[in-house]
Amino acid sequence: MASIPKGERDSFGSSIGVIAATAGSAVGLGNIWRFPYVAGENGGGAFLLIYLGFIMAIGFPVMLTEFTIGRRAQKNALGSFKKLAPGKPWYLIGLMGIVAAFLILAFYSTIAGWTLEYLFQAISDGFNGKSAVELKDSFESFQATPFRPVLWQLIFMFLTGYIVFSGVKNGIEKYTKVLMPILLLLIIIISIRSLSLEGAREGLNFLFKPDFSKITWGVVLDALGQAAFSLSIGMGTLITYGSYIKKTNNLSRTAFQVTAIDTFIAILAGIMIFPAVFAFGIDPAEGFGLVFIVLPNIFEQMVGGYYFAILFFILLAIAALTSTVSVLEVVVAYFSEELNLSRKKATIIGSVAISIVGIFATLSFGPLGKLQLLDKTIFAWFDYLSANILLPLGAIFIVLFVGWYLGKKNVIDELSNGGTLKLKMIGVFMFIIKFLAPIAITAVFIYGLGLI
Ligand code: PHE
Repeated sequence: MASIPKGERDSFGSSIGVIAATAGSAVGLGNIWRFPYVAGENGGGAFLLIYLGFIMAIGFPVMLTEFTIGRRAQKNALGSFKKLAPGKPWYLIGLMGIVAAFLILAFYSTIAGWTLEYLFQAISDGFNGKSAVELKDSFESFQATPFRPVLWQLIFMFLTGYIVFSGVKNGIEKYTKVLMPILLLLIIIISIRSLSLEGAREGLNFLFKPDFSKITWGVVLDALGQAAFSLSIGMGTLITYGSYIKKTNNLSRTAFQVTAIDTFIAILAGIMIFPAVFAFGIDPAEGFGLVFIVLPNIFEQMVGGYYFAILFFILLAIAALTSTVSVLEVVVAYFSEELNLSRKKATIIGSVAISIVGIFATLSFGPLGKLQLLDKTIFAWFDYLSANILLPLGAIFIVLFVGWYLGKKNVIDELSNGGTLKLKMIGVFMFIIKFLAPIAITAVFIYGLGLI
């Protein structure tokens, strides 16, 4: 492995690498596990529509804004604000991002651990011959045990640390480039199988036929949170990744492509899951366990399902890994650049600290399940707080920072690569980040949290 010369920052090698790594961050359990379960709980079609609206009107502009900050400053999520706004409190946005990274990774690694258990089960042919009810029961008894889920979680955190440890180009970029396309192909194949199940139509209706009577401000806030979570925005992941993007890269194009890929995969995941949900008589509002109960059912019905199951869970684990890596990278880049730790030390300290918090999230499906506040377990709180509160809040401040503090001249300079690229719709973009996005997010917040 070629090491990075002292004093020089690591960076992505190629534009394909940038897309692979950033799409790798965006595409993950957020699309395949979280999107179907949140959409299912919120009534399906109308949720999807609002989600798509947020992706276009807010998600894409925020992603571009984060890239702008990171590439301009060439620093981590917190250091970027310090560099661009010295002596000002804007760096607190970065701090909030670090906190969000801790919470997200803590609960995300629980689910990522489940994917490893399911891979293990797939290999040992554990789904074979089980009815839908039995599959649900075995999922529920697995998640409630204390030992195995924690073990898998720790293994997953170790893998994450290992890749981050290896650096940006030789770790993150190298793996994501090969694995993401295979995942896409596999989801398409499984969707086709799911669509040909008897009763699939009902699932498609659920996903695509909006029923607006289901919409409340709480649902709108969930859609916003899901959009932010899925695109990895609002906590500095894309500031950090942006800082590794070369000055010649076309940021607008990259952000557009990544947004499109992420959205496409979320919808495909819906097409993969919901027909099967209805075909097997599972409740779409099943919650956290939805995909883990539905997928084994589909595999059982597929020719070659044994192999598909194995391949699928390998890839799901990998999709999760390319996301956890991007979350850990936020913490590691911060520790190493701001606190002057070596990458090695920063990775170890970060992963161990997050793993400790994460164990509480995992145990909240079992021994700590009774520990609840307002009907939510520790896990549910980590999930809700990060996606529905911290990420949208981060997004508000990030767009305000670029819109009002960094200003149009800097934005144009950065997005046009110093005047070499022609920019379209820069006026619209500035309008969104100065006014539309911050006002819309604030409004959703106020109503969604029931503050008014
Ligand atoms: N976007 C990732 C996913 O969909 C999760 C994530 C959130 C990653 C926030 C980084 C930051 O799985």
